[in-house]
Amino acid sequence: MNYSIALVPGDGIGPDVIDQAVKILDAAGDKFGHVFNYVELEAGGCAIDKIGEPLAAETLEAAKQCDAVLLGAVGGPKWETLPGRLRPERALLELRSGLGVYANLRPAALLPQLRDACPLKDEVLAAGNSGGKPGFDILIVRELTGGLYFGPRGRSADGSSAFDTETYSRAEIERVLRTGYAAAAVRRKKVCVVDKANVLESSRLWRETAAETAKEYPAIETSYLYVDNCAMQLIRAPGQFDVIITSNLFGDILSDEASVLTGSIGMLASASLAGSGAGKPGDKIMGIYEPIHGSAPDIAGRDIANPLAAILSTAMMLRYSFGLEEEALAVEAAVNAVLDSGLRTRDIAGIGAGKQEKIAGTKAMGEAVLKALEKRGG
Ligand code: IPM
Ligand code: MG
Repeated sequence: MNYSIALVPGDGIGPDVIDQAVKILDAAGDKFGHVFNYVELEAGGCAIDKIGEPLAAETLEAAKQCDAVLLGAVGGPKWETLPGRLRPERALLELRSGLGVYANLRPAALLPQLRDACPLKDEVLAAGNSGGKPGFDILIVRELTGGLYFGPRGRSADGSSAFDTETYSRAEIERVLRTGYAAAAVRRKKVCVVDKANVLESSRLWRETAAETAKEYPAIETSYLYVDNCAMQLIRAPGQFDVIITSNLFGDILSDEASVLTGSIGMLASASLAGSGAGKPGDKIMGIYEPIHGSAPDIAGRDIANPLAAILSTAMMLRYSFGLEEEALAVEAAVNAVLDSGLRTRDIAGIGAGKQEKIAGTKAMGEAVLKALEKRGG
């Protein structure tokens, strides 16, 4: 099967890590008999420098023509003083809404090899875990094209007050819930809907809609938490969570909190989907796949950045956009094997590798994953 992928390396370490991710995608293609064709696009700071805006209309159009988007990172200090509508981050928001990727999946799991990077104690990591073993494996499903990020906003005539608006329709809430339930169905079958229904009317609509939608998923346990309590529970007993479904702003905040629990932000991938995910090979569901670590301009181009989050993002693409589960598992297993071998980029150096530890740069790490992938299953 042929797939066309928009590559948006972006700024900072974006190009460093995307180069490695593409190598892995190509290797997975060779191994399993798929062809990935790439369309390279500029968005973010590099686009501002070149054409004066973070995302050209033609760039968005070109991305729409592809089956999925692989994005590095955008932004950097160079563009931080620009007015809001010209900031590199606009490119992200416009890609998200332009491609209609309303469900953002942010996994945060404790990798056994990187246990020591997690700041929590064993007893905290064991609390709320059915097996009583320390660890957690959480998937945050964040609504991505609505809510406070996209609602009406403005200032009063004299500029002395400002407002942003949280608006959600039942339809917007329901579709992201369905993506979350679909994910939970192939995980531990638990959904926690997070809102602020004790105060916000929009949150009350979330809760009502969730209560109705939940009836269609009797095999999945649904619970509800207020966002402040959820923020607390995440550091009190993260093992209690499977899938968390929440609004755009709450998901932004909670996913940063969850990423710190893993202790290795350089390892975390994300997917933003325009549907509930591909069911089988041959399906094509639009998605944006990106590492969550950002552009880290201070280490850009120095062969230091950890490419594993970008590589794991390609695994998510294979799974959620193309229904290629076996391929996705092969990429994930290759990353796992490399971590087991003790290879570490600088950001995860000194964690869990013991005497086997060897420090690798961006390219060497990519190369190691490539070798591991080629070796697997002949
Ligand atoms: C994220 C980021 C973005 C967001 C910013 C850069 C606009 O924080 O992807 O979580 O708030 O969505
Ligand atoms: Mg964020």
